[in-house]
Amino acid sequence: MLRRLHPVQPDSFAFTPANLEWAKGQISKYPEGRQASAIIPLLWRAQEQEGWLTRKAIETVADMLGMAYIRALEVATFYFMFQLQPVGSVAHIQICGTTSCMICGAEELIAVCKELVAKTPHTISADGKFSWEEVECMGACANAPMAQIGKDYYEDLTAEKLRALIGRFSKGEVPVPGPQNGRYAAEPLSGLTSLKDFESGRKAHNASAQLAVDIGDTVKRIDGTEVPILTPWLGKAKAAAKPGAKAAAGASVAVAEADAVAKPKRTVKKAEAEAPAEAAVKKPRATKKKTEGEA
Ligand code: FES
Repeated sequence: MLRRLHPVQPDSFAFTPANLEWAKGQISKYPEGRQASAIIPLLWRAQEQEGWLTRKAIETVADMLGMAYIRALEVATFYFMFQLQPVGSVAHIQICGTTSCMICGAEELIAVCKELVAKTPHTISADGKFSWEEVECMGACANAPMAQIGKDYYEDLTAEKLRALIGRFSKGEVPVPGPQNGRYAAEPLSGLTSLKDFESGRKAHNASAQLAVDIGDTVKRIDGTEVPILTPWLGKAKAAAKPGAKAAAGASVAVAEADAVAKPKRTVKKAEAEAPAEAAVKKPRATKKKTEGEA
């Protein structure tokens, strides 16, 4: 399939301040001369921020990484995960059409998308809220058929269930992701047949769905303020430079990371204060002159 940039493009692109800080943190993972290795995470964050990948976003990322535009365009046009055209304002619906899902009813899900969203993929619905496409296996084959709607997986779908989900998203709701047929995860529908000890004391939803519930996942575009921005690798580099400080710095980073994972929203400030690495993000290494200047 030929993938081209969309004919209608915005005039500019800029990362939000938090996303820019996150992007600089990603770039700092790589040694001098290898900053281009950060191309995929940066393009991905640009897409998460805007919903799709614009020419200006691709060029901005290329400038940040000191890359020729054609190199960044090669990456953006090669990987199908990058949306090169605008998507629905509420959600882009990705229906898995690979073997397990196809056998279990993916074609019926696609028919629902054609009816409720648009007749053809990568076309925005009349109300501007949705777009859809068929994608290859998304690794949830045991819960086929499934779809990714916005950020989350919705599994064990039927045409009726997908229809209901789209209706709820359209009204501004964010349905709990995960299996939609009462299953906890990927166990038999009739219940666990082994390892039954794990049933006691478990949370209401499986780990993935529970995390979405806990952080209050929404259809909002990612602006970088959702979870703490941590760069523990910078802390380790500092500690290594100061003999004796390694253990203390490592412990501090570990505390900040654990804290952030346990309480993603409420501990943003605390985690940032505890992570010595955060200060370093604002002062990237001297070897990134190009990146800083262009960012
Ligand atoms: S075949 Fe659909 S998730 Fe794997």
